[in-house]
Amino acid sequence: MDFYGATPLAELPSHVTICEVGPRDGLQNEKTSIPTAVKVELIERLADAGHTIIEATSTVHPKWVPQLADAEEVLRRLDRRDGVRYPVLVPNLRGLERALDLGVTEIAVFASATESFAKANLNRTVGESLEMFAPVVARAREAGLAVRGYVSMCWGDPWEGEVAPEQVVPVAARLLELGCTELSLGDTIGVATPGRVVALLDALRHHEIRTDQLAVHFHDTYGQALANTLIALRHGITTVDASAGGLGGCPFAGSATGNLATEDLLWQLDGLGIHTGVDLGKLVETSNWLAGELGRPSPSRTVQALSK
Ligand code: HMG
Ligand code: MG
Repeated sequence: MDFYGATPLAELPSHVTICEVGPRDGLQNEKTSIPTAVKVELIERLADAGHTIIEATSTVHPKWVPQLADAEEVLRRLDRRDGVRYPVLVPNLRGLERALDLGVTEIAVFASATESFAKANLNRTVGESLEMFAPVVARAREAGLAVRGYVSMCWGDPWEGEVAPEQVVPVAARLLELGCTELSLGDTIGVATPGRVVALLDALRHHEIRTDQLAVHFHDTYGQALANTLIALRHGITTVDASAGGLGGCPFAGSATGNLATEDLLWQLDGLGIHTGVDLGKLVETSNWLAGELGRPSPSRTVQALSK
């Protein structure tokens, strides 16, 4: 797609790295069972489209997230390519062992800024879950793995309402202390608005957490994900999480809807002349193929517009 005549906007990066979370965040919430072959094909198509970071699956307890219970099979069958990173979401040492056995080179642990979600998602308090992650991060780092640390509910929580930056900062700081190599700030239920995004980024910066250590992870419940992304880019963020076709959600946070659709993100970034290396046309084809497999259309406005 060519975009002519756009005025370059100040304070934007020339390159954005997209962390494609569709195979994990996108599929974990699907109600019908998705064949392993479809998951593997999805990941391979995403790599074909130019993605270099694809969160492939999770090694959480299979009873907690039955949809991703085939993590081992997905990773065994996947033809992993040079130059593409395939992180896996890992909750505890058992999950790390499973990931290491499969030759995973990158993991993500996932903490919460709120007690209610920590309990619902990890069966732990915030403090207990950080204690659970400590040996996971230490062992993973010893084994030479990169470790992303998610912080969920950074702006709001379905049980506790608005979440203040002061509640997020200590969790983010602790994950870095444990050895995480990157943090992803999750708007799990999609309630953030741009001013509140800036408030959190400012608070983190004030506590000497650099923007180059951060990624943003927006869900699009209120249609704010793109606005939130743009303001985050203007404040120094260059890694953005998104999910092909806008699938996604969290089974343990009822009001969580789909992630920012990668196609919607690409429409904006391509239009701004920001390089990502990801091909929008190939991604739209992939999301239409996946919609056929899932039996319902993609919620992404860009996928819909480009499929007419
Ligand atoms: P628990 O029930 O407290 O587990 O669950 P436990 O530690 O008491 O262990 C109970 C049994 O489970 C033991 O077996 C363990 O071995 C086994 P037993 O000794 O009784 O025979 N077990 C496991 N088996 C396989 N794989 C494992 C594993 N762990 C324990 N990894 C646990 C605690 C953390 C395991 C559970 O709460 C869990 O799996 N939670 C995952 C929830 C989840 O995946 N949520 C969605 C992802 S988070 C998200 O979507 C947000 C994000 O996108 C960012 C955003 O949007 O904000 C990342
Ligand atoms: Mg998420």
